[in-house]
Amino acid sequence: MEDSNSPPDVIKARVIESRITELRAQIRAHNVAYYELEEPTIADADYDLISRELVNLELSHPEYELEDSPTNDVGSKASVLFSPVQHQVPMMSLDNAMSFDELDVWHERVSKSLGDVTSPRFVCELKFDGLAVSIRYEMGKLVQAATRGNGRIGEDVTANVSTIKDIPKVIGPHAPNVLEVRGEVYLPISRFKALNEEQIRKGESAYINPRNTASGSLRQKNSKVTASRGLSFWSYQLEEKSLELAMEYSSQTFEFLSALGLPVSPEIEFFDRFEEVKEFCKKWITNRHIPDYEIDGVVIKLDSLRDREKLGSTSRAPRWAIAFKFPPEERTTKLLSIEVSVGRTGRATPFAVLEPVFVGGSTVAMATLHNEDQVAYKNVRPGDVVFVRKAGDVIPEVLGPVLSQRSTTSDAWHFPKLCASCNHAFTRQAGDANTYCQNQLCPARIRQGISYFAGRTAMDIEGLGEQTVKLLVEEHVVEDVGDLFSLKENQLLNSKGTNQTSVDNLLTAIGAAKDRPLASVLIGLGIDHLGPSTAEMLARQFGNIDAIMQADAEAIESLEGIGPKIAESVVAFFCDPVQLTVVEKLRAAGVRLEEKVSEEEVFPVLQGKSVVVTGNLDNWFLSRDDAKKAIAARGGKSPGSVSAQTYVLVAGNGAGQSKLAKAESLSIPIIGEDAFRRLLQSGELET
Ligand code: IVH
Repeated sequence: MEDSNSPPDVIKARVIESRITELRAQIRAHNVAYYELEEPTIADADYDLISRELVNLELSHPEYELEDSPTNDVGSKASVLFSPVQHQVPMMSLDNAMSFDELDVWHERVSKSLGDVTSPRFVCELKFDGLAVSIRYEMGKLVQAATRGNGRIGEDVTANVSTIKDIPKVIGPHAPNVLEVRGEVYLPISRFKALNEEQIRKGESAYINPRNTASGSLRQKNSKVTASRGLSFWSYQLEEKSLELAMEYSSQTFEFLSALGLPVSPEIEFFDRFEEVKEFCKKWITNRHIPDYEIDGVVIKLDSLRDREKLGSTSRAPRWAIAFKFPPEERTTKLLSIEVSVGRTGRATPFAVLEPVFVGGSTVAMATLHNEDQVAYKNVRPGDVVFVRKAGDVIPEVLGPVLSQRSTTSDAWHFPKLCASCNHAFTRQAGDANTYCQNQLCPARIRQGISYFAGRTAMDIEGLGEQTVKLLVEEHVVEDVGDLFSLKENQLLNSKGTNQTSVDNLLTAIGAAKDRPLASVLIGLGIDHLGPSTAEMLARQFGNIDAIMQADAEAIESLEGIGPKIAESVVAFFCDPVQLTVVEKLRAAGVRLEEKVSEEEVFPVLQGKSVVVTGNLDNWFLSRDDAKKAIAARGGKSPGSVSAQTYVLVAGNGAGQSKLAKAESLSIPIIGEDAFRRLLQSGELET
């Protein structure tokens, strides 16, 4: 029965029809921007979302004319820049699976259509994020290369493709008379970074991502420009029926292509069980950042060429293949405004306030823009639609604007002249990328300094979050970190938003922090350039704060791992009367300013060694920080990432997959917590 609250069918139908019309128009416009103008107006993931919505609406409402829907197109018209090339065999697109459930549906459909009792064999390839080209060789010589275009007609990019080093101009030996190979032209990430560094040097704006840059580089009028970009190529398909007839499996195709000198990805794998296909997908979700090229999924195809024939294609995509798409790392969203935050050192950092967008596994509403030059380089303005990237646990990044959607009334952003927190003029020295608020009494700086002091890397005072600090500073209860330890119950109770319990808890936490190690105090004071391991070193070698305050730069610099920059910064810090007052307040309040005598003697058995820690080591250590301190105490370093210099990777519960994969790829030993304990004693790895 009709639900009396729902709108009548005619209205529903009209809403659906107008949504279909709207989606088709949007997708057509994005297609023109992407394929013809080479200036994408939407991130791939967002494009997939609206395409998906349209396909689903069309499937459930076949009554709306499908003929001219963009869901039937592969790409778009070829441009006028290049001559058209008719593809003998159309260049198709791929259907997407956005989840393992969707992959299962495809698997079931394929198995059913083949009607075999045994499951078919699959070939899994990486989905390279570049652009498809078809290259034709005649009598072993490269004679033509074309982009996909609309799938039937592409653009002649022979001259430009001929400049790509990976692509042989002559193939052989034993090249067939005619051979057409298809594959992906891409820009290696290292090349992309190098090109962007060049843009910075030239004072020009940033290239958005490797894919767009690859596409722009291939579609240049002047092939010298293409040559200078350093494009690469992976081949993945042979389009020559007479040849393929002699082959039965794609594995043979790959061997053949490879023997002719065409680049074939080493990451291709074949599986009989679909579970293994899914394992392959999972492995590459984890490893997606290891290769020097971007991948946005895994392409799963039937291995048997006969079975491919049997299943055939729809108008846009083969039924025998599917693209398993990785969770997106790039989305488009609106840049609402650009704000500036002032840190404890006075550094003023612009950041983007974004319309919240789900990307890279979390919702992003803010992204740093680093400094004034970066805003210019990224070429972004408030109100722009921007590309946002968040890859794994890397901080989110604004890549650049969708220029074609920029409002004609928008203005370039300028760094504010005054600090919003204290009204002092911002300053920027020649040769420095950073802008500063030099006012030591700036409330924002004081707040940030106190929060840093109370933070986990320093004094670890629970309950002293940013909001509480803000209140205490605004009400002038606390002016610097020295005031924290003499806070009285009534001062706190008078503050807004506090109650007896929160005040009791905070006072207890502050009391407990009085006994933190000297290194934590040194870190908390915020001495420029002084990091946790160097603070540890100072504390251990000098034993108490007075000895450090009296030491000259030479004495400090004589310590292993401490350079002149840190030494000078320490000396300058303790010459500053403002800082000396803080130290005296801490002393008067009973904060421990000397090293605890350690119970066991520790030898520098890890001197010069780099030990990376990942995951939780809670059988023996209180926290990962404690583990890092133990490494530092033995003269070692514990950087946050694995590199060729890493001595060993210590992996606890929930170890980072990318660190594990990186260590494996570099053949760096990986040990567990118990072996780590023994390493701390001996400095030697057990064999
Ligand atoms: S096979 C008929 N294999 O993905 C099958 N495509 O979304 C055509 N792509 O147009 C493609 N890596 O540009 C295939 N290993 C791979 C691929 C791949 C990237 C691209 C290609 C295609 C698009 C479809």
